[in-house]
Amino acid sequence: MIKVENNLFTLTGDNFTYQMKVDSFGRLLHLYHGPKIIGDASSIISYRDRGFSASPYEAGFDRTYSYDYLPLEISTLGEGDFRTPGIIISQEDGTTSSAFIYKEHRVYNGSNKIKGLPSVVIEDAECLEITLEEELSKAKIILTYIIKDSSLVRGLEIVAGDKKIKLKKALYTFDYLYGSFDVTYFEGRHCSERTRKRATINTGALTFTSRRGATSHQINNGFIICDSNTTELFGSALSLELLWSGSFTFFAEKNQYGSTRVGLGMGSEFFEYELQNSSIALPELLITFSSNGFSDLSIKNNRFIMSHIRRKNLSKLNNPVLLNNWEATYFDFTGEKLLSIAKEAKALGCDLFVLDDGWFSNRNDDLSSLGDWFENKDKLKMDLNTLSSLITKEGIAFGLWVEPEMVSENSILFKNHPEWALMLKNKKPVRGRYQLVLDLSNKDVVAYIKSFLDDLITRGKLSYMKWDYNRFITDFFSSVTPAGKIEYDYILGLYSIFEYLNEKYPHLMIEGCSGGGGRFDLGLIYYTPQSWLSDNTDAIERLDIEFGSSYLYPIATFGSHVSAVPNHQTHRVTPLFTRSCVAMLGSYGLELDPTKLSEEEKNEIKFEIKEYKKYASLIKDGDFYRLLDSNEASSALCVSRDKSKALLIAVNRLSHGNPVDHYVKLNGLDENKSYLINGKVIPGSLLVNAGLLLPFTFSNDYEAIRLYIEEI
Ligand code: GLA
Repeated sequence: MIKVENNLFTLTGDNFTYQMKVDSFGRLLHLYHGPKIIGDASSIISYRDRGFSASPYEAGFDRTYSYDYLPLEISTLGEGDFRTPGIIISQEDGTTSSAFIYKEHRVYNGSNKIKGLPSVVIEDAECLEITLEEELSKAKIILTYIIKDSSLVRGLEIVAGDKKIKLKKALYTFDYLYGSFDVTYFEGRHCSERTRKRATINTGALTFTSRRGATSHQINNGFIICDSNTTELFGSALSLELLWSGSFTFFAEKNQYGSTRVGLGMGSEFFEYELQNSSIALPELLITFSSNGFSDLSIKNNRFIMSHIRRKNLSKLNNPVLLNNWEATYFDFTGEKLLSIAKEAKALGCDLFVLDDGWFSNRNDDLSSLGDWFENKDKLKMDLNTLSSLITKEGIAFGLWVEPEMVSENSILFKNHPEWALMLKNKKPVRGRYQLVLDLSNKDVVAYIKSFLDDLITRGKLSYMKWDYNRFITDFFSSVTPAGKIEYDYILGLYSIFEYLNEKYPHLMIEGCSGGGGRFDLGLIYYTPQSWLSDNTDAIERLDIEFGSSYLYPIATFGSHVSAVPNHQTHRVTPLFTRSCVAMLGSYGLELDPTKLSEEEKNEIKFEIKEYKKYASLIKDGDFYRLLDSNEASSALCVSRDKSKALLIAVNRLSHGNPVDHYVKLNGLDENKSYLINGKVIPGSLLVNAGLLLPFTFSNDYEAIRLYIEEI
């Protein structure tokens, strides 16, 4: 898979080649990334005397050699490459020029766990490591490349020597000599995360930045670069996804000679990291390639995530169906009320009851108490241990909501440790949801969080924890960490807590959350097997969020609940069956008060939970195909990897007079098998090529169809 010959590095995956070469001046050129090739792609580089291009001194009077147009694996400032750089270093004297020259390389087996960061886990991986050295400061860049199936994982570490440097920007870049490309990105807002958008890469950089200290609802840190004619089923596409949960920057631009540069990495304008006899590792970047459109790309990428990134759910609960009390009660409950909800949840077939916000200190609204993680005995009329025991005695596991990274000004913690909150010295803090962010770059804060979590997990006998994060960072000032380091060190502090919990409590299931899906990324998925997809629980709007998220994330990672109607966010009334079908495209749960359901609704939910459990492993371990995604209707197919079973879900949005029918081609089924659908045997070739008429009755808005399909 990794071949090194005459300074030519050829990395070959199942369906792609990635090639680099060290040229005669020691520069690492990026030659090729695309469908498999053999041979040396440096033959396509043109060396020409270009007007107004600059040449390095070593090139003498040869004006045909310039970094202004060469495809580079590492791009910096000050060397005659006038494109947007990936790496910016300022030297001890304040200059920002840097030149990295090839030093050495090695090939070894096994992926390296990067200390303090999530990293892919591949036992039989082959890894290429290339070391470059910077001419002035002698700082080193260590590049790593791991190949597996259709994916490549890039790593980059910067190691400073005696000379002080400041790392100001740290992005991986990719240069493509020619071609017309589009970028697909996933934008949104709270309650409307990961909406797919597509733009043409042109001259003038298209940039996306999260400077919120977290991934954000507004733009996800996963992108797809594709040929301008790529569609769901045809054409080349590659995904770029950071294993990172903090601020990040992406850019894509076309250059004067028609080449394209794309960059993605951690940090925003707040980032500046001083190094001296020390090092910093960038989060890994997962790159998956497909020549067969977005559908195939998603399947290849999401299989990789399931096998090599997502933390296995070691909890004794098998695909737990949970009931969360947030939309059932908000802050208004007692221990008795919770117990009655948990009992009813058990009767409906739930495995887990989750107590959400409002159980601690004086927390009866969102104005206070974050940081004071002891139960409110006056409100519960019992302690946490008793509540947990009473609930688990009913035969249902118990889980708890926490928001450990936050502090309310109205709290004991803030009174005792105002210096633990991120806020400027001489200025009042900027509030978000009335709260402040704790300084996770401070080891004392991390130790405090670990200790109260230990206490809660033990006393509450927790099987599960919902880890929330409900505001972004604004005040980048810490009492212990230089301001420019906070974006990075904060996330390292966060990951260190997850590492600690995962190791100490391997059977504790943690679900990520950030005001819904504001920190939905591979960094979190490495530590938490699922994340709450969005605070928007409306079935129709959620379809869009699920479809957008499915491009770069496995649906097994989507926390997905059936809620009450009228829906609390949109006030829309949708049928229970539709809500349940939409929730099945993820990790199923309920977000309602079961004591308020009619007998008929209870029976329907009981049935739906049984159905979900029948299909759960197909949904979670199978492949997800987007069949139809329009303003009128959506349809998806979950197919087992051996293509013997499938579950089709379709939702028609509005009913119309004299309606137009909806059809889907069941991509993902095997054309050579026959399938049983609703008692009828239908050849796979017919389902894949002629397709299926979706049997909507069009008698109601928001009508859903669910069909189980099995090989016969
Ligand atoms: C966030 C979460 C919700 C809920 C509330 C509680 O908004 O996304 O699910 O937990 O916080 O305050």
